[in-house]
Amino acid sequence: MKTPVPDYLEEILSSCAHETSGALADYIPELANVDPDQLAVAVCTTNGSLYCAGDADNAFTIQSISKAFVYALALQEHGVDAVVKRIGVEPSGEPFNELSLEAGSGRPLNPMINAGALTCHALIGGPDCDPDERFEKVRQGLSAFADRELDVDEAVFESELADAYRNSAIANMLRSYGVIDGDPADVVRGYTRQCSLRVTTRDLARMAATLAHGGVQPATGERVVDTDVVRQVLSVMMTCGMYDAAGDWMTSCGFPAKSGVSGGILGALSGQVGLATFSPRLDDHGNSVRGITLCRRLSRDMGLHIM
Ligand code: DON
Repeated sequence: MKTPVPDYLEEILSSCAHETSGALADYIPELANVDPDQLAVAVCTTNGSLYCAGDADNAFTIQSISKAFVYALALQEHGVDAVVKRIGVEPSGEPFNELSLEAGSGRPLNPMINAGALTCHALIGGPDCDPDERFEKVRQGLSAFADRELDVDEAVFESELADAYRNSAIANMLRSYGVIDGDPADVVRGYTRQCSLRVTTRDLARMAATLAHGGVQPATGERVVDTDVVRQVLSVMMTCGMYDAAGDWMTSCGFPAKSGVSGGILGALSGQVGLATFSPRLDDHGNSVRGITLCRRLSRDMGLHIM
């Protein structure tokens, strides 16, 4: 792997600065109010060296990128076998907010779609955990990956929760199959808060580097999750992280990644590097347009494609 230098990161940002295609996510009203021209990239090596360019300190909500980390926390708490019994590992080939449950069992197809992510959230702390305590475990877990105390963007949280009819429908369906326990409304609230955790591109690169470093946060040396957990998470990110664009992503970028509707993309290559991009305009799959362009460049220039 060739190590990137700051000038290089500036250069790849300016090479895609002119791209204005795509649209802001507007199903969460607060997300439609952001500056669409924000653009950032950050790369963090497994020894903790961080390189970034552009708006890498601008905050945005983590959204679906949280799904990979809460999956890791659920695996760490309950073990791989127990979690796989509840949530599958097969790509759905469908948009993130489809029901995508296995016929008969009601088991969500994977943890990166909303059905699987709601189930993952519900697993944290076990069935008797108080919902606020569960969210706090999630917040602390993600903060350990980032080596920084993360907090909630309350405006985005309220904005999404007020209109969370589809996720409520999914959670109620999961409850009807017995896939989740407790009150579905609590699970939707906790999951929505999880998605509203505020991060920067710099934070995401650090979180990615913790995955690339086998679960050990490079700066603190803290083991956040075990290596078998990381292996499971990166494998599922590889096949399901970019939803119905997973095949296109695999062929063009070729490293495990996860996107979010606020415009972040996080990628990690085991033993090598964690990286993140941020640009809020999205394609039809809900993935950042300029983020994908940047990741293609990074993959090509740094030799990140696993093939
Ligand atoms: O569940 C939702 O609708 C969002 N809070 C998260 C969706 C998301 O980020 C999908 N990713 N591209």
